[in-house]
Amino acid sequence: MAGWDGWFVVEHREAHSQARAGRLVTPHGVVETPVFMPVGTQAAVKTLSPHELRAVGAEIILSNTYHLYLRPGSDVVAAAGGLHRFMAWDGPILTDSGGFQVFSLASLRQVTDDGVRFRSHLDGSEHLFTPERSMAVQRDLGADIIMCFDECLAYPARRDEVEASVDRTTRWAQRCHRFWQEEGNPERQALFGIVQGGAYPELRRRSAEALQELDFPGYAVGGLSVGEPAGVTVAVLDATVPLLPADRPRYLMGVGTPDLILEAVWRGIDMMDCVLPTRMARHGTVYTSEGKLTVRNAAFARDFRPLDPACDCYACRHFTRAYIRHLLKVNETLGMRLTTLHNLRYLHRFMERLRQAVREDRLPEFRAAFYRGEGAVLG
Ligand code: GUN
Ligand code: ZN
Repeated sequence: MAGWDGWFVVEHREAHSQARAGRLVTPHGVVETPVFMPVGTQAAVKTLSPHELRAVGAEIILSNTYHLYLRPGSDVVAAAGGLHRFMAWDGPILTDSGGFQVFSLASLRQVTDDGVRFRSHLDGSEHLFTPERSMAVQRDLGADIIMCFDECLAYPARRDEVEASVDRTTRWAQRCHRFWQEEGNPERQALFGIVQGGAYPELRRRSAEALQELDFPGYAVGGLSVGEPAGVTVAVLDATVPLLPADRPRYLMGVGTPDLILEAVWRGIDMMDCVLPTRMARHGTVYTSEGKLTVRNAAFARDFRPLDPACDCYACRHFTRAYIRHLLKVNETLGMRLTTLHNLRYLHRFMERLRQAVREDRLPEFRAAFYRGEGAVLG
C-alpha cells in the first residue's frame, strides 16, 4: 500500500496555541480542518437531504456501524454499492466502529477479550461484535475513514477498570489494524486508532503510545462526553493531544458544543462530531449570535424576526420565530427541518470563522470575543 503519509497536510500552525489549519484528502474529496462533522447515525442526518447538507456547508458526515449493521444490514448497503451510493451523499464519510454504541445502547452486554456479545436495542436479538467483525462491516459500508473497535467506559470509572479497558482496547486495535491490512481496503479507507484512558493522564499516555506503534493514518480521543464535567474534558485533552503525532489528523469523538470545539481546536484537535446541534434543533433549541434560544417557548409566539438576524441560512432568510414555533408546536416536520438547517449552518459558519482565526493567528482574540459573547465574531 502507498501509505498514508501526506494525506493530511497541516498548512498553518496558529502562533499562540496548539491549533492548526489543514486539509484532509479523501477519495470523496478534500476536507478543510478543523472540521465539524454532522451525525447521520442511520445513513441520514435527521430531517435533511444530502443537497441540504451541502447547502449548510457540511464537508464530511459521520454514520454508525452499530445501527447500519442492525438495520438495514451491511449486506444491503454493500449491495447498493456502499454507503455513499446508498444514501446519495458523494462527499467524505466517517463511520464509528460500534464500540461506543454497543456500550451505550445495547443491553445484556458480555465483554470478553474476543469481543462484545450484546442484544439489539431494537428487537432483543443476540449479536457478537469483534474487532474483525467491526472492520468487515466498515469495509462493506465503504466510508472514507473508519474507526477501531474500542471499549469506552462511563465516567467516573475506577483506575484498575480503566487500565484493563485500555489494554483491551490496545489489543483490539492491533486486531483491527491487522484485519484492515489483510482483508480490508487499506488503500481507500483510513483507519483511526482511538485513545482511551478515562481521566487518568498516565493511562492516556499508555494508550496513545501503544496505538502509535501501529502507525495509524489518524488518531481519535475517545472516552469523553460520557458524563464528565467540561473541566475534565479539557484536562484530558491537555494530557493527551500533545502525545499524538503532529502529522496525523486528531479527532475528538462526540464533543461538539461551540465552547468545547473552541477549546479542543486551541489544543490541536482537527475533527469533531456531535449529535447535539441536530438533536437540540429537533427539540426546538437553536444557536444564535446572542446565545441559545428555545424557539418552542411561548415568548416567541408573536416574534416575527428570524431565528438569528445575523444568519444566512434558508430558515433565517424566509421564516420567522413565530412561524417555526408554530410548526414545532403542531408537529409539522418542516419545523424540525428548519431548526436543523439553521443549527448546522450556524455551526459551520462558526467553524469557518474559527479556521480563519487560526490561519490569521488571531485565535486568542477570537476566543476572548467568544467568551464575551460578541455576535460579530460568532454571527
Ligand atoms: N463516540 C464518542 N466517544 C467514543 C469512544 O470513546 N469510542 C467510539 N468508538 N466512539 C465514540
Ligand atoms: Zn439560520
